[in-house]
Order: sequence, then structure tokens, then C-alpha cells
Amino acid sequence: MTALTLSVNGVEVTRDVEPRTHLADFVRENLNLTGTHIGCEHGVCGACTMIVDGRPVRSCLSYAVSCAGADVRTLESFDNDPVVGLLRDAFSRHHALQCGYCTPGMLATAFDIVTRLPEADETRIREELSGNLCRCTGYVGIVAAIRDVLARGPHARTVEPVARGVSPRAVSGWTDATKVAAGDAATATFAVPVPERIDGGQTLSRSIPVPVSVERLWATLQDIETIARCLPGASIERINPDGSVEGAFAVAIGPMKARFAGTAQVAYDASSRSGTVRGAGGDGISRSRADGAIRFAAVAAGDDASRLDIDMTYKLSGPLAQFGRPVVVAHVVDRMLGEVAANLARVSEGGVATASAPIGGIGFVLGTVLAMLRQLLIKDGK
Ligand code: FES
Ligand code: FES
Repeated sequence: MTALTLSVNGVEVTRDVEPRTHLADFVRENLNLTGTHIGCEHGVCGACTMIVDGRPVRSCLSYAVSCAGADVRTLESFDNDPVVGLLRDAFSRHHALQCGYCTPGMLATAFDIVTRLPEADETRIREELSGNLCRCTGYVGIVAAIRDVLARGPHARTVEPVARGVSPRAVSGWTDATKVAAGDAATATFAVPVPERIDGGQTLSRSIPVPVSVERLWATLQDIETIARCLPGASIERINPDGSVEGAFAVAIGPMKARFAGTAQVAYDASSRSGTVRGAGGDGISRSRADGAIRFAAVAAGDDASRLDIDMTYKLSGPLAQFGRPVVVAHVVDRMLGEVAANLARVSEGGVATASAPIGGIGFVLGTVLAMLRQLLIKDGK
């Protein structure tokens, strides 16, 4: 058992808990707060959503002990909250519930939407709700109720989000140099050292065509802030004097949303127009970690055409690792690289990158499912 102290609905509580106890079980079984419902228990249905440090969190995916010191708010604490009061009335008026099993999680997410996104339209509301499943209503009433409350806004946040982040773990260095064959047109030479092996990590190689000269592409690749603007979901906090970069990477996979904050070390080799990125970061809420090493090279593919060759090794650990199956990650990477290539071409020509939102949404989920099906069919067809 582990002693755990945290604030639940404004009251500090201390209990001995099994390290494996998730937050939903903790509040229901230890504190008798049964307003939080449990459905799938693996992060898909959203029934267990509660507010932790001001943000909606899947309590079935969060270990209680990982929330030590956190401010946890369950639906019971919103009895007198004016915004949730409006939502409750609107849910009744618009018939936004039938059996009510999904409703506690829906209200927690709706509270987040109406206080964080005052301009949200129907499309955005549906995207934000994509992590909360309802088997009864068909969502029309739920969306209408949220729109109704938004129209009466703006609504002040009664629970302010707490800044969060984790200290990056010290990362190890590099070993030897290597060459990687990358397509027929040319051979990418990664003259800089390759990263040390990430034990248990997955690897992925990609070549993306970029319709600008290799000189322009290489110049763009050396501007870290521009590169961050080209990467959907990436943001830079600071560039340190030693060249390391502190920042965050947000990713949304259907119901799962994570923001990995950490540090990356970037190295360049001008003679081969190649470089490396070695990074590690963590998502403070789910206590998941991502470790990654990327080698990249700009390769000439004609007068005004080039190619960006990428060779990456990554490892996800913690609760979110279950969403890190290779086919899912490959789909994330391919979607992301499509946007990166378009942005690189844009900024290399003096334009502005347009990617800022993390990869995610229902289109992504459908794409991933199709990719998995394709993989199964190919396997079965052989
Ligand atoms: S019970 Fe937590 S997401 Fe379904
Ligand atoms: S109202 Fe029954 S699951 Fe949503």
C-alpha cells in the first residue's frame, strides 16, 4: 500500500492505496463518490471523465498515486457551479440523456468545452466530444445543449488549469556512424552518429518528397523554430545555450489526448545535410513517457525538388503505451509528415506554416482503423 494525499472536491484526503488502483476506483470505493461512472476501463468511452488540475482526465487511465497533490474535481463538487447548472438544465431541455450512464463524463467534457472554447461551433463541439461515447442519444441533443449554453456565454472558468510538465530524464549519447539506403534516386548519408538503441523501441523509416531545392530545404531544416511551426501539435518553450530545445508535443488519438513536455537535443552535419534529434518527454497527467531518436537527411531529387529522409526509433511507456501500436504510430507519423512536407515547401518559399493543431479527430481514427484492416487483409491474403 502507498500513502496518498490529494485534494478531492476541495477537501484534502489521505488514504493508503494499492499502487495499481486507478483514480475512478479510488473516488468510488475509497471516498464513496459514485457520481463518476466506469464503462470500458481502458480509456475509450469517457464515462469516467473528471477534472484533474483543471483539465478533463480519464480517471480509469490515471493511477490514483500518480495524482498525489493534484486537485481532483468530481461531478459531486459541481452541484452549485453556475456553468454546470446551465448545462444540466440544457441537457434536460434538449433531451441530451436517456439512461444517463454517460452523463457525468459528458457534463465534465461539456464544462471544459463551454469554459475553454467560447467560439466552438458544432464541428468543434463534436470533435471535442469524440472521446465521450453515448449509446442512447445519438448526440444531437448533447451537441444542442452545449451550443445552447455557449450561446449564453462567455462563461468564466470556475476551475483554473494548473501548469504542468515533467523534468526530462537525462538522455544518453550516440555511438557510431552509419549509412542508410533510402530509395532509388539517391542514397541518404547520415554522417552524424546514430542514437544509442532505445530498448524495446519501434523503428520507422520514411521518405517524403518536398518540391523545393535541396539547398532551400536544408536551410529550413536548420531553423528549429520554423520546424516546430511545421509540425502539427509541436511547440517550443525555449532554446537553451547548449542547443537543447525545451518544448511540448500534443497528440490526440480519438479519445486520448496527451501533451508530452520534455527536452530534445538537435545536431547537424552540414557536409552531409543530415542531422539527429534525440528527445524524451512525459505527459504529466497520464504519467506516460515517450523516448525518441530521429535521423534526418535532405537529399537532392532534381533542380527544384528534394527529399526528406527520416529514420526514427521511439518508445512509449506508461498507460498511453497501449495506444502506441506500430500501425497506429505509423498512421500518426504519415498524417503528420504529409502536413510537414506541405509546410516545409511553403516556408522554404517564404510562406507561412499552417499546421498547429495536434493530429487527431474522427478522420484520424477512421484512417487508423482502415490502416489496421488493410494490414490484416494483406496478411490474410498471403
Ligand atoms: S471508463 Fe474510463 S474511458 Fe471508459
Ligand atoms: S444517455 Fe445512455 S449512454 Fe448516454
